[in-house]
Amino acid sequence: MLKKRRSLIDPGDFTVDELYSLLKLADNILKQPEKYSHACDGKLMASLFYEPSTRTKFSFDAAMNRLGGRVLGFADPSTTSAAKGETLADSAKIVSQYVDLIVLRHPKEGTALHFSRHADCPVINAGDGGHQHPTQTLTDLLTIKSYKNRLTDLKIGLCGDLKFGRTIHSLVTCMSRFENISFVFISPDELKMPSYVTDILDEKGIPYTETDDLESSMADLDVLYMSRVQRERFVSEEEYERLKDVYILTNEKLKYAKDDMIILHPLPRVNEISPEVDKDPRAVYFHQARYGMFIRMALIMTLLGFNEEVSPYA
Ligand code: CP
Repeated sequence: MLKKRRSLIDPGDFTVDELYSLLKLADNILKQPEKYSHACDGKLMASLFYEPSTRTKFSFDAAMNRLGGRVLGFADPSTTSAAKGETLADSAKIVSQYVDLIVLRHPKEGTALHFSRHADCPVINAGDGGHQHPTQTLTDLLTIKSYKNRLTDLKIGLCGDLKFGRTIHSLVTCMSRFENISFVFISPDELKMPSYVTDILDEKGIPYTETDDLESSMADLDVLYMSRVQRERFVSEEEYERLKDVYILTNEKLKYAKDDMIILHPLPRVNEISPEVDKDPRAVYFHQARYGMFIRMALIMTLLGFNEEVSPYA
């Protein structure tokens, strides 16, 4: 069982056993949502989005509402005293006087940790710049576990913007804690995986290869994780234009993949997965977005101390 009243800033904040417990609780909620519809009665969550979001914001808000709790917050910081120059530290202190839990997205790396140090309630990192996106990783784990029935013995290909992709950094560092995982990093040279991630793999002796060729990497993957080249992280518009369509997954390219490979994408997508792929049974990214709501329900319950006793390996 998790300790009560803690924040989630980095997927490494949870042990592997705690991750399995969260996944089990999410699975229980998915199977019997009505049993949990009053789990957070009387609780209030602040949803503070300093950067645009569809999935993370709406799935968190839906999750809290479906647990019987209530939500307040903003998706446009210009309507708050941030516009008058209030510091993030003061905003954290103030908002945490009103609510039981804060969900924070911010474009600057490290902001979630800074915010959590000044808040008097748990803070969930809903994405901090190009750094980490731990609740997307929980979503990805639930999706992989649901489709592959395991989080071990997997070869995972990650394709696209590995440099700025916070979902990628969180997933790789988290999956590096499971047994017999290997990675294939598929990107142009300009968007390679940062060394702070590969250093972790090197230290643990976890195998990975780096390539710029999607087709030749496909044949022995169990999971293909596509990602968007993120215009908002580029300093140069010209560089973005040059790289944005470097990978486009099509039915033709999928001919090289195993029948039971699954295709994940944190979304939103732009051009990197052709819409024709949506009909392929291996394309699970829309289901993945739905799983995001159930794992966030499990996370909210857990951080508010309402976790039921679940055996992580049940
Ligand atoms: N996957 C994800 O973080 O999507 P949003 O930016 O829409 O929240």
